[in-house]
Formats: sequence, structure tokens, C-alpha cells
Amino acid sequence: MNLTRSPLEIAASLLAQEEVVAIPTETVYGLAGNAFSEKAIDTIFLLKNRPRTNPLIVHVHNLEAALPLVHSIPEKLLLLAQQCWPGPLTLLVDKSEKISNKVTAGSQRVAIRVPAHPLALELLKICNFPLVAPSANPYTRISPTKASHVKDYFGSTLKYILDGGDCQVGVESTIVGMENDRPVIFRKGVISKQDIEKIVGPVSYYTKSSTSTPTPGLAARHYAPKTETILCGRESIESRYENETAIIVFTTALPFVPLEFQFVLSETGSLVEAAKNIYQLLHTLDQAGYKKILCEQFPEIGIGAALNDRLRRASTPNK
Ligand code: TXA
Ligand code: MG
Repeated sequence: MNLTRSPLEIAASLLAQEEVVAIPTETVYGLAGNAFSEKAIDTIFLLKNRPRTNPLIVHVHNLEAALPLVHSIPEKLLLLAQQCWPGPLTLLVDKSEKISNKVTAGSQRVAIRVPAHPLALELLKICNFPLVAPSANPYTRISPTKASHVKDYFGSTLKYILDGGDCQVGVESTIVGMENDRPVIFRKGVISKQDIEKIVGPVSYYTKSSTSTPTPGLAARHYAPKTETILCGRESIESRYENETAIIVFTTALPFVPLEFQFVLSETGSLVEAAKNIYQLLHTLDQAGYKKILCEQFPEIGIGAALNDRLRRASTPNK
């Protein structure tokens, strides 16, 4: 008899016992629990110190597994699911009675996605229940993109971390729902407005006045390092630069600042690579004890829009 269990089996068995475990996804690590377990849901909110008004994303292994959890999927969102799942896209759709109000914070809509990480998919297949999984960070902090980030945040208060290596996408999924028959992007991600428009035609970004859907997770300050972080245009970095400041640049270092204080996200100018590296770099710089982090604004197109969005939220002063 083989007594050694694989990490996947350990995670699956803890989840079946209504425990919470951290799991890798292609975007960021999640704090996962059985979506049908009140106990697991309660533990997730407690561990994250997350307000109960902020709903959880449900993860399933394919589109078919999503169907019993939703009332219906509008045609355009179905097209997106068919083309983008598994992948970093979350759909906001009317829920079925199988999804409790605890998961959706009382909303009639559920956020649902199929992650593209092979371990997450394997785990979802083994479990015969969907997994709720918010990002595995305390409320308002930067999402983890490595198992060690999760460990640093939660230590022994978390029963188990399924280590799936570094997250390849690096920022949270794009969230898309419908308002007045038109797809709306509620959270930007690496699947960009332009990508979505190629599949379903015109799409809008969520604005407070454009929708009646509650979007509690779009809090101004979010994704924030402890160190003061400022997103600014390349031309204004010089005037803001002072001692003990770290500078994050997209693709080329600035001529007037010592190189040792500058951190290049992608030497080849790839926004995909910048997305993969950004949270990891913020984690590292946050721990290194700089007084301030200045980050160069990205081109406001495609993935650049998602990166600017995260850094703008990280820059909002803590009230
Ligand atoms: O990439 C991701 O989406 C990662 C990985 C782990 O899957 N998850 C993630 O979850 O980022 P979380 O909880 O950190 O962010 C989910 C966002 C929150 O802003 C939440 O308010 C919003 O989605 N959300 C979840 N369910 C919702 C619902 N029913 N209605 C409106 N917003 C919802
Ligand atoms: Mg989060």
C-alpha cells in the first residue's frame, strides 16, 4: 500500500473536510474552500479579514460544471466562456439556487471562472464540488504570485498550500458581466477590452453610474504594498525621486537615477512579462524597506490598462 499522498491528494482531502487551502491559479494564488460549505466560506472571510459584503469567485473545471450553478448565461458571455476558458476571465451571471447568498454577499449574480493552471484544474476535477477562491492575501494587500508570498501572509494559520510554482499571468482575472444587453468589464485583466471586443463586439468599462450591479471589490485602495507607492508618468519621476526610493520602470532604465534603485519589468517591452513580474516585484520591494516606490505608468492599452488600474489602486492614500 502506498502511504505517501501527493500534494494534490492532500489538498483535495482537506477541501473535502471543509478546510481552506491555498491553491495556485494562472493569475494569482487563491484561498480555496468548498463553495457549498458554510464553514469553509466563513473561514475564508475570517482568514482574509474580508468584509462579508465582498463576494467570492467560484471556480469550476469546465463550462459544463458551471451550468448547474448559474440560472443562465447570456449569449455574448457564453461566447467569451467558450473562447477564453480555461483562462483569466471571470463571468458575472445570474446564479442558480445552488450558490448561497454567503458566496455572493446577497447578490443574485455569481462570479465564476475556469482557471488555466494545470494543478488547479486537476484539483477541481478530483473535488466533486466547486471551489470559492478569493486571492490569497489579507484584505487590501497585494495578491500572491508564489507559494512563499502566501506563507509570508498566513504562516501556520493556513492548513496547507498547494505549491504550483510562479503564477504565469500574475494579475487577477478580467471580470465581465452584462448591463443593458452590453458586456461590461468590471475588473481589468490580461484579457483586455480589445481582446473581448474581437469576440463579442463593443464592450464598456464599468463606471459607477453605468451599472446597478454592486461591485464591492472595486474599493479604491486595494492591491497595496505597505510602502507608499505612486504611479506616475515617466517624465515626472525625476522630480519625485529622492533618497531611498525604488523605481519600477516598464522597459528601460532612466538615465538620471542610479541603476541599483531601478527595476525593469520587461527588457523586451512585453506587457505580458510586466504583468507576470509586477506583484512579485512589489512584494520584494515592500520587504526591502524602501521609503517610497515610484512606478512608471504603462501605455493605457491592452494589458497596460490593467496594470495602470492595479497601480492606481495601490497608490490611493490609505484613509
Ligand atoms: O484571478 C482571479 O480572479 C483570482 C484567482 C484566485 O482566481 N481571484 C480573485 O478573487 O481575484 P478576489 O476575491 O480577490 O477578487 C474577486 C473580485 C472582488 O472584487 C469581488 O468583489 C468581485 O470579484 N466579485 C466576486 N463575486 C462577485 C459578485 N457576485 N458580484 C460582483 N462582484 C463580485
Ligand atoms: Mg483579491
